[in-house]
Amino acid sequence: MKKLVVVTGGTGFIGSHTAVELMEAGYDVLIIDDLSNSRIEVLDGIERITGRKPLFEKFDLCDRVKVTECFKKYTGIAAIIHFAAHKAVPESMDKPLMYYENNLLSLINLLRAMKEYGVKYFVFSSSCTVYGQPDTLPVTEKSPIKKAASPYGNTKQISEEIIQDVVSAGDPIQAISLRYFNPIGAHPTAYIGELPIGIPLNLVPYLTQTAIGIREELQVFGDDYNTPDGSAIRDYINVVDLSRAHVVSIDRLLAGKNKSALEIFNLGTGNGLSVFEIINSFEKATGIKVKYQVVGRREGDIEKVWADTSLANNELGWKAVIPLEETLRSAWKWEQYIRQENNG
Ligand code: UD1
Repeated sequence: MKKLVVVTGGTGFIGSHTAVELMEAGYDVLIIDDLSNSRIEVLDGIERITGRKPLFEKFDLCDRVKVTECFKKYTGIAAIIHFAAHKAVPESMDKPLMYYENNLLSLINLLRAMKEYGVKYFVFSSSCTVYGQPDTLPVTEKSPIKKAASPYGNTKQISEEIIQDVVSAGDPIQAISLRYFNPIGAHPTAYIGELPIGIPLNLVPYLTQTAIGIREELQVFGDDYNTPDGSAIRDYINVVDLSRAHVVSIDRLLAGKNKSALEIFNLGTGNGLSVFEIINSFEKATGIKVKYQVVGRREGDIEKVWADTSLANNELGWKAVIPLEETLRSAWKWEQYIRQENNG
């Protein structure tokens, strides 16, 4: 019998790609999503890729009664991957309570239900935002946690603390927290990808929307950073590579190979790239010129961050392998596909 993995936020960007990788690795998947920032059609995309539809429940994880009902209904949940969360940094500055309530309550409800129904294994979707602007680069998992620059970032820090406290209290939960750097790209089939609602906040969706003509020009936020070309540097990782790390983490927990009750891994490529380098690589990969303009720095942005990935490489036996140009081509293919779908 296939093992059942719950993927919360499974119709979202990283969640949907992870659902695909899990199903292709032989797991059954139950997606829980309230569709507050994603579309039900994502399930069709997953089916087109894998040939199977994942199980699906639509509800808000802040509703404790619904969470309990779900755990009652699906006996035999082997593990949970928890993606569902609000993630827009500026919105979190405007609506901090909404972020604390949603991101923390959903986590607490899940952990409670896991305890009550004897589900042991938990993978948490964390972020490199917990490091702030690191003093030394690349950042390792031992780099100090800095005061969060936004309520969003703070919810990720607090969430990791909650998980640590729960496992330290002797609950039989075994967890892995994955700190993502900058996930980009889309599935090579282009049946699933990143679909921001409204104006994109992140670089690559804004870039592809500019390339296709929905946005007039890309704004480059700052060219006066202390970096070789003056623009800010991030560690951009292909979403499929990232998703595979979740499958490896689930395999590891189920096989009892984890070395502590909460393990933490950076997920990045280990390479830092500037905004200009991303624009140039996109142009090279697709042959399309992108109109851009340099504007002032964006509030809350850090100058540079990239990952030391040796722990994930050595312990998980996982490595990001998809080349950047292929990643950018996949983002472009997805942008074209989704516009055609919407117009057709
Ligand atoms: C941010 C968060 C990260 C969060 C992620 C989720 C911080 C420090 N990081 O990542 O924790 O998980 O969002 O969405 O808050 N840029 C432009 N023009 C644009 C958009 C972006 O020049 O139109 C630049 C930014 O200034 C930055 C880089 O591109 O240097 C990447 O930006 P973005 O894709 O928004 O990701 P982060 O801000 O790194």
